Amino acid sequence: MYSKITGTGSYLPEKILTNQDLENMVETSDDWIRTRTGITQRHIARDDQVASDLALYASQNAMKAAGISNKDIDLIIVATTTPDMIFPSTACILQNKLGIENCPAFDVQAVCSGFVYALATADMFVSSGKCRNALVVGTEIYSKIIDWNDRSTCVLFGDGAGAVILSQSNAPGILSTHLHASGSYSNVLSAPGSISGGKVQGDPYISMEGSTVFKFAVKVLEEVVQEAVSQNNLQAADIDWLVPHQANIRIIQSTAKKLGIPMDKVVVAVDKHGNTSAASIPLALDIAVRDGRIHPGQLVLLEGVGGGFTWGAVLLRW
Ligand code: ACO
Repeated sequence: MYSKITGTGSYLPEKILTNQDLENMVETSDDWIRTRTGITQRHIARDDQVASDLALYASQNAMKAAGISNKDIDLIIVATTTPDMIFPSTACILQNKLGIENCPAFDVQAVCSGFVYALATADMFVSSGKCRNALVVGTEIYSKIIDWNDRSTCVLFGDGAGAVILSQSNAPGILSTHLHASGSYSNVLSAPGSISGGKVQGDPYISMEGSTVFKFAVKVLEEVVQEAVSQNNLQAADIDWLVPHQANIRIIQSTAKKLGIPMDKVVVAVDKHGNTSAASIPLALDIAVRDGRIHPGQLVLLEGVGGGFTWGAVLLRW
């Protein structure tokens, strides 16, 4: 028994915030943002939208693409760093919005690696025969945890959601999954605030040592891609499509260069979306599937790194 992605979907909020808009909010420039990050614009959710709202649209699109209905879903995993509330989980809230009864539903928190972690977890359920069709979602509203006065972080992130349906299959599908974490880096990239006594304690906004993140990301992403291909007796050159976490074009380019993968085999969406954390990989995947770049039979590698640090990869045959 194997698991296979049978449908993808995504959703981006209507409002677009351009680099020019940011020039009017903080001391920055379109040129600085584009040359350092590759980002030209990002989508921003409405004040009344929560992560499960974005997830709902992405999930409906994925179910439609897979040709299944809500009754066919028997597992929901949501990767998010920006849940609707402390509890219940965003997955349970999404389950209710989708009108699905009595299937397991839970959140995964691995920041920007969240979707890779969630997909690897869903693969265990589906390939073991415990579930037939898992809904796996990455959904984020980072605009709620950004300090809009901090130019070093507010230019980087955006909001959005992506989803896949992972179904039982006689042929692979997912070939292997690779997850890693190192909590010793937890101070390098964090939103350290918490709620206690009815008040926010500590800084609730994203803080980041940008250059440490950059160097670590390029190092571990190369390692995890090599781990994935070598475990399958393949080489990086065999990959048809690399679908990386969309943090920064320079991280994506540096990783691809180290692996010897040409940029025309790399799916890039960071220019239009910014960094949408757990949503970035399924959003990029959905775009490349829908515009016809990714074909059946091709070898696709998803990889991501994020706060924790966490990092991982999923190698699959489309
Ligand atoms: N506009 C203009 N100037 C800025 C801005 C801005 N938005 N932000 C910082 N600067 C200034 C700094 O103040 C600094 O000025 P100074 O030299 O006078 O002190 C100068 O630009 C250079 O700052 P650096 O932080 O050294 O810039 P760097 O070249 O490292 O680029 C960046 C910063 C883009 C954040 C880079 O470190 C990076 O890409 N890091 C990876 C982080 C990342 O992608 N994080 C996303 C979350 S983690 C993840 O998803 C994996």
